[in-house]
Formats: sequence, structure tokens, C-alpha cells
Amino acid sequence: MKIGILTRDCAGVNAAIRSIVRTAVKYNIEIIGVKRGYSGLIDADFVKLDHRSVSGIINKGGTILKTSRCKRFYTKEGQEKAIKNIHEHAIDGLIVIGGNGSLTAAKILADNNIKVIGIPATIDNDVNKVELTLGADTAVNVALDALDKIRDTATSLERIFIVEVMGRQCGYIALQVALAGGCEEALIPERDVDIDSMCNEIIKGNEMGKKSWIVIVAEGKAKAHDIAEVITKNTNLETRVAVLGHIQRGGRPTAIDRLMAARLGNCALEMIKDGFSSKCVFIKNDIIESIDLSEAIQKKTIEVEKKYSLIKVLT
Ligand code: F6P
Repeated sequence: MKIGILTRDCAGVNAAIRSIVRTAVKYNIEIIGVKRGYSGLIDADFVKLDHRSVSGIINKGGTILKTSRCKRFYTKEGQEKAIKNIHEHAIDGLIVIGGNGSLTAAKILADNNIKVIGIPATIDNDVNKVELTLGADTAVNVALDALDKIRDTATSLERIFIVEVMGRQCGYIALQVALAGGCEEALIPERDVDIDSMCNEIIKGNEMGKKSWIVIVAEGKAKAHDIAEVITKNTNLETRVAVLGHIQRGGRPTAIDRLMAARLGNCALEMIKDGFSSKCVFIKNDIIESIDLSEAIQKKTIEVEKKYSLIKVLT
């Protein structure tokens, strides 16, 4: 049997590759790494992975296979090439490690009779029905570490900071970081925001002696610089901005991400070996579960009000 692995990048992906490869060794299954994500599938850019080629990567961020944002896969021609390469290289199945885009593409392959199992991996934690995706815990910890440092200077100089975190369509990182970091405000795509009342709160707080504020904004909601400009204009107070950016997608995976990677990598390989396909694996209540890829790629709706209210109560 020959199984391919295709990845996006975030912390924990390398640990998952390692788990798949080492499980495959146990069953005498050959593993092929697909380089640069779906681009590598279209260009037949493959590399053989064995027991030793995954040594020393359990603690490394990113993906040893490299990745890409591949628009070609969304064309009929790109898909046909990818499918042809899978058949020509006698690949019996594919494990796709990635977020919504990667899993949606995986579903297209499954619909074309390619055996595919997905492992949800994205810092945005926005895969439907999946409590926690690979990479999300590390991203929150990376952002929290940066935030704690910003707090040191914000408190010392009694300043208002606007900190922009990642999350194009979702406020997962923003909410987690705001709550864990003791911030005053979180602006997220899932909630309407009343900037005027936020500014009034800042003015009132300032009059009562609360001089330092940290507002977290998810990149998908607004640009931190724009929010800072409005706050300065409305409150007459100085602001500073920090955009955390791609540091959130890198870094050493946390224990939570490594453990999840080990378990899901092992399970994905066993499932594909046993003939399952078009499934997405994840952990719920410490037990591995799977759902159809078709369900995993639906839009995830999350309850944000309770966490948001708690941020406001605790500030
Ligand atoms: O992987 C998800 C994500 O990190 C989003 O949070 C972010 O908006 C986007 O990817 C950034 O994409 P790129 O790396 O292509 O700039």
C-alpha cells in the first residue's frame, strides 16, 4: 500500500507527519510526501518518507513538506492533473492536513474516488464540528506571549494599545487571547461593535484613573491602525498599535498540539488502511471521532456571547 501526505502549515503539522510515517512503518505501508500542498499534487512533486526522514521534527513549527496557496487546484485542468498523478504513481490514498480550503479540495478528490482522510489543522480553529484544530492552541499561546510583553509597556506608560491578531473570518484567536490575557475589549467578525460606546467607556475609565487599555482586534474585523485612529479622535488619548501577524502561525507546537498530532496522525493512517474515506478526524472529550468531510467543510458557527460577556465582566 502507498499513502500520500499533503499539508498546510501550522504548529503540530510536522508532529502529525511523523506520527503517520511511523505508524505506516508498523504496517509496512509506503509513505509519499506531497511537496508544496496541492501545487505538488498537480506537478507530481513527491518525496518518499521513511522512519528516519521524520526524526527530530516533533518540536518544529511549519511543515517539512512546504506548502502553497494553490489556485490551480480550483480549475478542472488542475484537478484532472492531480488525479492523474495519484493514479500514475499508484498512490492508494491521501491524508490531507489543513484547514477549510485544504479539506474542501480533499472532498473534491474523495468525490473522484480517491481515498482521503482529513486532519483539521488551522490556527483559525474554524473547521465545522471540530472543537480544536491542530495549530490553534500554539497560535493562541504565541499571541498571548506577545500580548503579555505588550502589557508590560502598556501598563508602565499608561497607554491604550490596539493589538491585531489573525483570523480572517473568525474571532477565535482574538477571543481566547482577550480572555486569557485580561484585555478590555475584543473586536471580532462574529459580533457587531459600537465604537462610540467603546470610546465612551475608555473616557469614563480614564477619568476614574484607568489609564491603560488593551483592545484585541481580529484582522477580519478591522485594521488595528484604523481602530487606533478612531479611538484617538474620539477620546483625545494617545494610542499605540501592534500587529502580530504571521508569528502566530509559527513556533514550537504546544504539548496539546503535539499530543493531538500524534493521535490523529496515527488514527488517519489506520482509517485509510482499513478502507475509510472522505472523513475528517478530531478529538472530542479525549476520544477520537470522525465526521464526513462534507460536514467538516460547512461554515462553523460558534457561540461568542458568553466568552465576550466574561471579558467585559472580568476587565
Ligand atoms: O491559516 C489561516 C490564516 O493564518 C488566517 O488566520 C490568515 O488570515 C491567513 O491564513 C493568512 O494567509 P497568508 O499566509 O496567505 O497571508
